[in-house]
Amino acid sequence: MTETQFTPRVFSGIQPSGNLHLGNYLGALKRFVDMQGEDYETIYCMVDLHAITVWQDPARLREKTREVCAGFIAAGLDPEQSILFNQSQVAEHTQLAWIFNCIARMGWMQRMTQFKDKAGKNAQNASLGLFAYPALMAADILTYHATHVPVGEDQKQHLELTRDIAIKFNHDYGVDFFPVTEPVIGGPAPRVMNLRDGSRKMSSSDPSDMTRINMTDDADAIAKKIRKAKTDPDALPSETNGLSERPEARNLVNIYAALSDLTAEQVLTEVGGKQFGEFKPMLAELAVSKLAPISTEMARLMGEEAEIDRILAKGAEKARTIAAPILQQTYEIVGMVGAKQG
Ligand code: TYM
Repeated sequence: MTETQFTPRVFSGIQPSGNLHLGNYLGALKRFVDMQGEDYETIYCMVDLHAITVWQDPARLREKTREVCAGFIAAGLDPEQSILFNQSQVAEHTQLAWIFNCIARMGWMQRMTQFKDKAGKNAQNASLGLFAYPALMAADILTYHATHVPVGEDQKQHLELTRDIAIKFNHDYGVDFFPVTEPVIGGPAPRVMNLRDGSRKMSSSDPSDMTRINMTDDADAIAKKIRKAKTDPDALPSETNGLSERPEARNLVNIYAALSDLTAEQVLTEVGGKQFGEFKPMLAELAVSKLAPISTEMARLMGEEAEIDRILAKGAEKARTIAAPILQQTYEIVGMVGAKQG
């Protein structure tokens, strides 16, 4: 079998299920913006169908979908340069997901740690959608033949599953049709931690708002949350190995590094020896200078609902021109009568 050359294409998605937070920004959104440009076609999605794997109030889901779109644009994604849309407007995702449900094995899905975390103790009461979710995620990516997927570290296992699905599909049908996608997990903050507990990741589902910085927080809220973030009594080290047993300190240094486009090593050369009393105000100032303009622009865009809906509809139309032929070819490979070569 010869190696097919795939167009360098980036796909990634964010669930519109809660507040966009600093973890989403540093692990994903900021990196989406970095990848926008000449090297790749870039496709970014508000994955509303993923969000409903757990209960969502319909009015809030609509609002959050628009808010994530506003966040994408405010952070620097340009709807003329990147395709921006919400998942439910492109039916090919769910159509391909069904085929992948028939490729993925129960054993593979049962190993997914995110399902175990989200379903918790009462897994019997979790939705079937929550269990099948990673097959839909694989379809999101592969219905565009995406070659690169920028995500935070928590999505690594889902991307390995996406690769397994592509490999098994290609093998079972004797084709070289789906690319084996590259996860792009990197930067200094692939896993931003909870500000009050350095052993847990920052998440929109934590009941305490003080554990995270939301992209909609104003300057005062950002500064207050950093001031109150948990730390330890020691001064900052001058090398990263001095952070290995200090998760809260490591987290704040990584956040500083990611916001300033430096490495953690470079940051420590600058701040090694300082106490948190001195470092926290520096971090707060940096965070406000980078995030406040985004939240201000988000708030402005949220007032332009019709414009956001127009961007999403136009993005969905462009997305379908890529997804539809790939789905048709998949149907043809699988043996569906009526499928036309796209
Ligand atoms: P979601 O909506 O939970 O998160 C969106 C993105 O933000 C990253 N992220 C973080 N990065 C660093 N530190 C954190 N604390 C943190 N929290 C979240 C996530 O890794 C992700 O990149 N299953 C995905 C959505 C999805 C998707 C896709 C992603 C659906 N289909 C296809 C890529 C490609 C999810 O639930 O992400």
